[in-house]
Amino acid sequence: MQRDLIYKIAKNEFILGDESLHGEEHWSRVEKIGIYLSELTGADVDVVRIFAYLHDCKRENEMEDPGHGERAAELVKKLSAEGVLQLGEKSLSELIYACYHHNKKSKSSENINILTCWDSDALDLWRIDIVPDPNWLNTKEARSRKLISFSYKLFEKYKK
Ligand SMILES: [Fe+2]
Repeated sequence: MQRDLIYKIAKNEFILGDESLHGEEHWSRVEKIGIYLSELTGADVDVVRIFAYLHDCKRENEMEDPGHGERAAELVKKLSAEGVLQLGEKSLSELIYACYHHNKKSKSSENINILTCWDSDALDLWRIDIVPDPNWLNTKEARSRKLISFSYKLFEKYKK
């Protein structure tokens, strides 16, 4: 996975600055949570890591921004068309779906790669003073004590 390139692209697209709750520190924690969670769920770690960097990079504000998932999905399509993202058809469509729907309340999927993306994002809710509620998490692995405590420790480390 072309992490440095994808990070650079996300940074370049992002307009909310370094202090944003939805910026690079969040992306990096979602990536770390995603790597750990993918080991347990068997998800495609490349899809999850790319999601971590791109899913919020098209946000235009810190609050409600209902279009940002769709804009992130559009960016994924563009990067793929340009040959920057080199994913197989299945992985690409999972990544597009995961980005497009990640901020929709009605989101649903049975695809483990997509669910692992969403759970990795949800496990970083500590940063906005929300304890990840097991009822919101899609995979049993994300609901485990191991992952809840891993994500909390990660957040604590970044706070310092
Ligand atoms: Fe996010």
